[in-house]
Amino acid sequence: MERTFLAVKPDGVQRHLVGEIIRRYETKGFKLVGLKLIHPTRELAENHYAVHKERPFFAGLVDFITSGPVVAMVWEGDGVVASARKIIGATNPLTAEPGTIRGDFGANIGRNIIHGSDAIETAQTEIALWFNPEELVSWTPSLTSWVYE
Ligand code: RTP
Ligand code: MG
Repeated sequence: MERTFLAVKPDGVQRHLVGEIIRRYETKGFKLVGLKLIHPTRELAENHYAVHKERPFFAGLVDFITSGPVVAMVWEGDGVVASARKIIGATNPLTAEPGTIRGDFGANIGRNIIHGSDAIETAQTEIALWFNPEELVSWTPSLTSWVYE
């Protein structure tokens, strides 16, 4: 089953949006298989955003993501990688659709509340970067037959 990595960024944690964000993925029907609060090190943040290391915003991005605790999560479900990104919305909260997390709660590209893996392969890399295998839990939600035919 497909998995994705999501992280409530320090702004989302400080603004008490953790519960609201988890609620959206739970009620959608996705399965939570990993969850932890972590204050990322610079090394972890630089690895996580390594694809952007030549971009002018990289240093500020790493400063921001290491500025406080982050809620790191792994969610599982059919098509969860792309669907989770749709629920997050566009990178810039000012252009993100209302109804998305960034569209509803954000007002600045550098404070966009949540990260989501952008592809299945990226998700696998990011899950391995943020979680040890034994931190991921396999379980069968009792509602499965009401979510999937
Ligand atoms: P993320 O990786 O955090 O989920 O965001 P994303 O895929 O929507 O966007 P991405 O292109 O991967 O950019 C990573 C983060 O860098 C910041 N950013 N700032 N100032 C800028 O032009 C700019 N562009 C990107 C954003 O915080 C974005 O989430
Ligand atoms: Mg990205």
